[in-house]
Amino acid sequence: GRVCLAYSGGLDTSVILKWLVLQGYTVVCYLADVGQADAVDAAAIEKKALLLGAERMIIADLQKVFVEQVVFTAIQCNAIFEDRYLLGTSLARPVIARGQVQVAEQYNCQFLSHGCTGKGNDQVRFELAFKALNPSIQVIAPWRLPEFCNQFHGRQDLLKFATENNIPVESSPKAPWSMDENLVHCSYEAGILEDPDHTPPKELWKMTLDPLDAPDAPTEFNIHFDKGIPVKVVLGGQTTTDSVELFKLLNKIGHDNGVGRIDIVETRLVGIKSRGCYDTPGLTIARLAHLDLEGLVMDAQVRDLRDQFITRAWSRQLYNGMYFSPEREFVENSIVFSQHNVTGEVRMMAYKGSVYVLGRSSDASNLYDEQDASMDSLEGFSPADSTGFIEINALRLKKYGLQKQKDGKP
Ligand code: ARG
Ligand code: SIN
Repeated sequence: GRVCLAYSGGLDTSVILKWLVLQGYTVVCYLADVGQADAVDAAAIEKKALLLGAERMIIADLQKVFVEQVVFTAIQCNAIFEDRYLLGTSLARPVIARGQVQVAEQYNCQFLSHGCTGKGNDQVRFELAFKALNPSIQVIAPWRLPEFCNQFHGRQDLLKFATENNIPVESSPKAPWSMDENLVHCSYEAGILEDPDHTPPKELWKMTLDPLDAPDAPTEFNIHFDKGIPVKVVLGGQTTTDSVELFKLLNKIGHDNGVGRIDIVETRLVGIKSRGCYDTPGLTIARLAHLDLEGLVMDAQVRDLRDQFITRAWSRQLYNGMYFSPEREFVENSIVFSQHNVTGEVRMMAYKGSVYVLGRSSDASNLYDEQDASMDSLEGFSPADSTGFIEINALRLKKYGLQKQKDGKP
């Protein structure tokens, strides 16, 4: 049979590749470039794949699709999981999975394979996407196959197999944690991080400087939004409008000023609690700017409903691998509606681990009115009317308070 394998060039997927070849499969290797590839040597990965017996190596540049179709939607709805995690890995999975199905179809593969462990979120995300996009292709998940797991109990077994099968192993020692990097973040989990009280070492973080080492001078810049989508970043007189370049620029600003590090314990969708560290420089900045602009222009009731239902739903759908679902499409329609007036500019400053809003402006909404809000003006709103508003709202509270007094409750 023919298999399309998600191949990174690392030890695990190299062993899986060789193992599949030894089982008699023809293997098409696939790597999605979702922004991690600046740090990765594509030519070296292709060479390694071919050396290990792959029929071909396909590297797909999906950065633009990733940013425009998923990351910008995350910004539009202020996506967040369990109050902290900006979903960096979860956002990339649907884009990577869709690319893999396309490659499998193009090269007539009957199987799709990946190196995800059997305990995590990623296996679920990939396989739900595969099934939604092409249910006729079967999945080979080696880390869930007894014949594979019984042969490979840990890293030592993988290294032994690598030596026996002439699989080149990187000479630099492997970091004692696992990483997943893309344009949005780098994640760090497992290994020494499994003790949730073990503070990550200084050298762990790849996408942000240590705030303690960040420059003494702040970085000031502006972000322009059109219907909730960042369309322009202005930094030091330079204007950037290309979606990927703009996001990379926000990443650089965040990186240089140490913005966007978190260290959390989260609940995986398979129910296991796991500790993860994430640095998410650009999205942390964009999310704050977007939230701030919404404060200026967005209707309060739409916002309240959106926060309660839409932000939660979309974030959960992405975390749980439910991207190719009707409910995600349904929710995205209301995200678009909610962003109708979210057009304007936010002036920002990044400084030593934090990002601040310096001011905001918009021509897109008439909701904010300096006259209405002013403490000095009596026009457009009659303070006397507030007396009745307070009286009516207090009706119920007065009764409740009196009843409590009567009952002698504190
Ligand atoms: N816990 C995060 C998530 O579920 C990050 C997962 C990282 N994945 C990986 N294969 N290292 O989204
Ligand atoms: C994995 O198990 O492959 C990584 C962690 C996760 O998917 O949650």
